[in-house]
Amino acid sequence: MGENDKKKKNAKSAYLRALELVISRSLIKYKIYSKQLLHIGGTELAIRKIVTHPAEILEKSCKAVVSFDKKLTSILNDMYDTMIEFDGVGLAAPQIGLDARIAIVDIDDEFGTIEMINPRIIETSGEQTDPEGCLSFPGLYGEVTRPNFVKIEAFDRKGREYTLEAEGFLARAIQHEIDHLDGILFTTKVSRFLEDDELKGVEIE
Ligand code: CO
Repeated sequence: MGENDKKKKNAKSAYLRALELVISRSLIKYKIYSKQLLHIGGTELAIRKIVTHPAEILEKSCKAVVSFDKKLTSILNDMYDTMIEFDGVGLAAPQIGLDARIAIVDIDDEFGTIEMINPRIIETSGEQTDPEGCLSFPGLYGEVTRPNFVKIEAFDRKGREYTLEAEGFLARAIQHEIDHLDGILFTTKVSRFLEDDELKGVEIE
């Protein structure tokens, strides 16, 4: 295959991957909208309002979860719907106004949606510097240096403890969300804020 053909093929597969992502996101959104329709007349909406900076709830250390009950399940479900609706790759409970150590991450990889309740970082190593954004800071992006590897312990929605190891972008997203639970915002870790023309493809957490 000639160099040009290779380029064409690469461009085509990148295009297809992007298309797949758009389709899967649209399907998820469709699922959410159907769910919302079911909620008409009800008391609960699946998509919650995002708290943006400045707000007290974003800068305090959140309380540990003690009951793994229906309320927790409903919060986690709403957090997922909200994260997808606003095209984020992660969301922490204080970002929907809740004082609770609950966070989720989904970077569209094989891990799927990671639900972290009362998470603790037990090991980190290495270093990575990359752009970061946050749903609580619309339109603001900056470079943040974080450990490249992270090992955490957390509980799932049923109260089962698990250990998870992650690296690269997933490790970044996990650390960003756990920071939220301690009232630490990414802006306090930014080494350089990014200009509009540098923003292509930056994910928001
Ligand atoms: Co954030």
